[in-house]
Amino acid sequence: MDVLNKRSNRKFIIAGVVCCLVTLTLLTLMTRLGGTCQIHHSPVPPYLDKTAQIKHPRKMDENKIEVDELLQKIRVISDKIRQLEHKIEPSDQELDASNTTNWNNNWDKMENINRTVLYKTHITLVVGGESKGGQITPKGLRQMSQTAVAIRDIYQQRTVRIIHAEDHSSKRSAIEISRVTHGVISQDSLLDGGYPGTPDPVVNETALPLMDIRGYVEFRDSARLEAGFRRFIHHGEKMEYGTVLVAPEVVVKYFILRSLQLPVSMWQRLSLETGSISTIRVEVHHGVLVSAIGSIGHLTKE
Ligand SMILES: *[C@@H]1O[C@H](CO)[C@@H](O)[C@H](O)[C@H]1NC(C)=O
Ligand SMILES: *[C@@H]1O[C@H](CO)[C@@H](O)[C@H](O)[C@H]1NC(C)=O
Ligand SMILES: *[C@@H]1O[C@H](CO)[C@@H](O)[C@H](O)[C@H]1NC(C)=O
Repeated sequence: MDVLNKRSNRKFIIAGVVCCLVTLTLLTLMTRLGGTCQIHHSPVPPYLDKTAQIKHPRKMDENKIEVDELLQKIRVISDKIRQLEHKIEPSDQELDASNTTNWNNNWDKMENINRTVLYKTHITLVVGGESKGGQITPKGLRQMSQTAVAIRDIYQQRTVRIIHAEDHSSKRSAIEISRVTHGVISQDSLLDGGYPGTPDPVVNETALPLMDIRGYVEFRDSARLEAGFRRFIHHGEKMEYGTVLVAPEVVVKYFILRSLQLPVSMWQRLSLETGSISTIRVEVHHGVLVSAIGSIGHLTKE
């Protein structure tokens, strides 16, 4: 949109400049051709005043030289206009989707790292199975056996590493995914849930910390969520194609928003089901692609 707006704005400006130049050139041409006109001061408009006389009419060859000079000037001006018009067309680089004014290409500060030693990364984010009172429910376990099969289908024979948060649902879900995919499991406290900050808008007040401790909770948790994002979502330095993160819903939402460079205050605008899969792809040259958000196509209805 920005590129289009800029293009049409520039077109308007150039059209204006062209009009002015053409008008000026024509006026000059007419004045020169007519020579010096002296017009009697009278209330009659000049074009009706028969007494208006042309003094010292110029010779034909003098006029011809001036016309040639003017034509030459017009040619130079139209060349300039053509050059400007050429500039209206955005270059391939400008059209590159990863290069808009709003997108920061150097979001993970890896811009100066030799791209030939970077790899594509494919990160699957899983919201753990349904839980009640801090424990995964039988339904949550059934969800996870289906989610595990879906993840195995995504990565096929590739090695998968599974990293999970400390809560019971994330832990049990990771074990189930590992059982099916034979992935290596580890736990990381940077994936633990938390409060990213005041949502915009506030969709569900009861999901927020109590008012008097809100500032403290935000101070503590927002730093952890950001650290988690920086640890797990970036260009690949190794051939770690398959990374599966199993974490509470809010962590998945935070990672999706941050990877798309959207304000994290939007976090209550997303709602992800338990057992759902979201996918972030970090391409070596072409930025970030989120190809699934809270997908539950692999789950059967209960
Ligand atoms: C992005 O586009 C601007 C012009 O809009 C250009 O000057 C700049 O070189 C481009 N950057 C990259 C990395 O392509
Ligand atoms: C990037 O790495 C490749 C492979 O190691 C090397 O051939 C190339 O010269 C490097 N390019 C730069 C700009 O360092
Ligand atoms: C609001 O948040 C609470 C606590 O997280 C949750 O139990 C409740 O289901 C949420 N309500 C809606 C409408 O999402």
